[in-house]
Amino acid sequence: MNSANRIPPGVWNAIDYERLASQAMDAGHHAYVAGGCGWDATVAANRAAFAGWAVLPRLLRDVRAGHTRLQLAGMELPHPLLLAPVAYQRLAHPDAEVATARAAQATGSCLVASTLSSCTLETIAAASGPARWFQLYLQPDRAHSLHLLRRAEAAGYRAIVLTLDASIQLASRSALQAGFSLPPDCVAANLRDYAPAPAAPLSAGESRIFQGAMRHAPLWDDLHWLLAHTRLPVWVKGVLHPEDARQLQAAGCAGLIVSNHGGRSLDGAPASLQMLPALRAAVGAGYPVLLDGGVRSGSDAFKALALGADAVLIGRLQVYALAVAGALGVAHMLQLLTEELHACMAQAGCAQLSDITHDTLTPSC
Ligand code: FNR
Repeated sequence: MNSANRIPPGVWNAIDYERLASQAMDAGHHAYVAGGCGWDATVAANRAAFAGWAVLPRLLRDVRAGHTRLQLAGMELPHPLLLAPVAYQRLAHPDAEVATARAAQATGSCLVASTLSSCTLETIAAASGPARWFQLYLQPDRAHSLHLLRRAEAAGYRAIVLTLDASIQLASRSALQAGFSLPPDCVAANLRDYAPAPAAPLSAGESRIFQGAMRHAPLWDDLHWLLAHTRLPVWVKGVLHPEDARQLQAAGCAGLIVSNHGGRSLDGAPASLQMLPALRAAVGAGYPVLLDGGVRSGSDAFKALALGADAVLIGRLQVYALAVAGALGVAHMLQLLTEELHACMAQAGCAQLSDITHDTLTPSC
């Protein structure tokens, strides 16, 4: 693990952190972060979907008043790049989520802290700026979910992001091949005090998926319970089906995150970007929709905004930058992405985010 907190040579674009992380990280840890599930078909689809679009340059446009500011869920943000919830960041750097939180604060970015963070949500809150959301995995015992909620509220998180697409996560083949297992100093710090539900043995003929892994998977009733038990806005992450999007909007969710968990949940799920236009159409203009999955550059963020997202979340790139250069690396990566977005907007004649419409793109050949 590279715990040097300096920007190494060779970082010109945000995506350079991806290449450098493979040298900076332990091979097993890197395989765990980089991999998806199965054969990584959805990981590849996320990237290919961005390559399927090109940005159309425009000429003679005045963008001298250009900026990327936006209002999102009551927050004024300097750019539409959020840090996605990513578990166990101690795998990448000893400062773990504290470093990521400092980088978010330094760049005015909104941080989404994972239930499975290696530092407690209180420690992360103390290191972060006001723009912080808490990602919730509902626990098998509702009392534990409620306790997590109350802790997040008390620690000043401004929204709950309920992730619903990861009840089953088949292992990453590359992580298995690399012999990955969580090291003893890397635990889900938020859950330390909650005794895990005893695993009920399966009877003969019961499926280890249907009656096993899915035994405690959230249901609509759980979503209604959550909405009734917090004063914070609730976003749902992991939405890919337009009908789910409509129902979540009708149920009172504050917004949606179009995501396939970075290809880590269902191998063969469509690219998030591919589903984005249909989801935007399903919920209409004005309803908050974010996207993650495969964003590696400012022009990727531009394409997601053109296809209907209000903002994007950055997953693996934050871990890669953290592994290479700690908090400084994450802040630098966000700054590079922001500059790449500025450059793309300027070339496309867009002075503000609302100028980034579908007709700024054309399909790539
Ligand atoms: C994740 N992701 C994730 N999502 C979530 O809701 N809670 C979590 O704890 C985690 N943990 C996690 C760990 C690692 C190592 C990765 C790579 C991803 C998914 C994450 O929030 C996001 O959806 C994807 O990472 C987005 O895709 P990209 O940007 O990594 O391509």
